[in-house]
Amino acid sequence: MDLSDRASGKLRYRQLNSSISIIRHTEVIMAEKSIVEIIEKKRDGLELSQQEIESFVAGSHNGSWRDYQLSAMLMAIYLKGLSAEETAALTLAMAASGEQFDLSALRGIKVDKHSTGGVADTATLIAAPLAAACGVPVFKVSGRGLGFTGGTIDKLDSIPGFQTSISKEQAIAQAGRIGLAIMSQTDQITPADRKLYALRDVTATIDHIPLIAASIMSKKIAAGADAVMLDVKCGSGAFMRTAGEARQLAETMVSIGKLVGLRVKALISSMDQPLGNLIGNSLEVIDAIEVLKGRTGGDLLEVSMELAAGMTVLGGIAQDNKQAEGMLQAALQSGKGLEKLEQLITAQGGNPKVIDDYSLFAPAKVSVQLRSSRSGYLTRINAALIGKGFVAAGGGRYSKEDSIDPAAGIIMSKRLQDRIDAGDLIAEIRASSLVQAEKARNMVEQALTFSKKPLSAAPVILERID
Ligand code: URA
Repeated sequence: MDLSDRASGKLRYRQLNSSISIIRHTEVIMAEKSIVEIIEKKRDGLELSQQEIESFVAGSHNGSWRDYQLSAMLMAIYLKGLSAEETAALTLAMAASGEQFDLSALRGIKVDKHSTGGVADTATLIAAPLAAACGVPVFKVSGRGLGFTGGTIDKLDSIPGFQTSISKEQAIAQAGRIGLAIMSQTDQITPADRKLYALRDVTATIDHIPLIAASIMSKKIAAGADAVMLDVKCGSGAFMRTAGEARQLAETMVSIGKLVGLRVKALISSMDQPLGNLIGNSLEVIDAIEVLKGRTGGDLLEVSMELAAGMTVLGGIAQDNKQAEGMLQAALQSGKGLEKLEQLITAQGGNPKVIDDYSLFAPAKVSVQLRSSRSGYLTRINAALIGKGFVAAGGGRYSKEDSIDPAAGIIMSKRLQDRIDAGDLIAEIRASSLVQAEKARNMVEQALTFSKKPLSAAPVILERID
């Protein structure tokens, strides 16, 4: 994308921004009838104007639309769809509904990374330090775990002392100093998305590609980076079950980026089994450290390197993926990636000694093993059920208010196509209580399918979309 494209995208964004604030600040309350008319229009499958979408979004956070009207509109959108223009208008209006970060004080092309959510997906904690070690300014606003998928903020919170709730000013200053900051999403960013997401969650309207794309991209736009590397997960442990759906989501998000002058690349990667073997908050930090020490690899390393390469190209540090891969391999082998993670932990108040001493993480209260009662090849893993096992063990939340156990999780000893004999160790479950551990163990057991013959191994990286 050239600069004029980016400039016109930013201009459109600013214009929309000012129209949203006019709606908000003059407190234009639309007459009840016109709200009903907008809902009717979408119910009948017609395209909404930008102004109508802005009214819906403004109404979600200034109270001029009631929850039942917002919910009816979400269901009408779910059933009748959104055009590319409507999706872009929705994204921009949600991005402009709250605070927008200005990262212009930071030098270089600021790059963010986002995963649509998976199980044992700790790629951020590997890709972000590696890219930053190569000179990419990485500024990331992250969320907590959602349903059976983990969240980077919950993982970082498991490091003793680590502060994720830092201010925007602190995060910008830190990114200026060490080239990397990861902060927790604040209530001021995209309040409209927060409200609409909460309603989608209770009205069966989550799994809709334009609504997901608008929700993710609105947060990325508001967080202020110049470029975003997306990892769209696909398979049994992801929102998107098929490669077709994942491609559609990736393409929708890349198009939105183009429209607003944000450089976006997307990867489609498999979530047909947990990405890493360790599932849990502190467990995934440990897994990331092990990868950065060069002690473990596999799918987690492959996806992380590919994402880091995309970030390095987006950040203008490498010309193409091949050049980026050389730089990233050097950062991995020299320990510069690990050093960058250590700097991140120190800068955000965490104890960097965890890197060499995993006993500094809070210990698990209970640990049980799952041993195989069958023999054969592991040919299918229901990754969502493993993720639910992690939640059942105490590592995730059933509701937003739940507290989590940073040590709870699952250590998988087997991967797809492995040969397993009766009695072999399949997994270790770490939990807050024996009852939770046993519930999680049953879920892990149910998630596994054995066959007499192995299937051919499937790649973890399915597609790249620019
Ligand atoms: N993640 C989001 O941020 N929004 C969605 O709608 C789905 C996943």
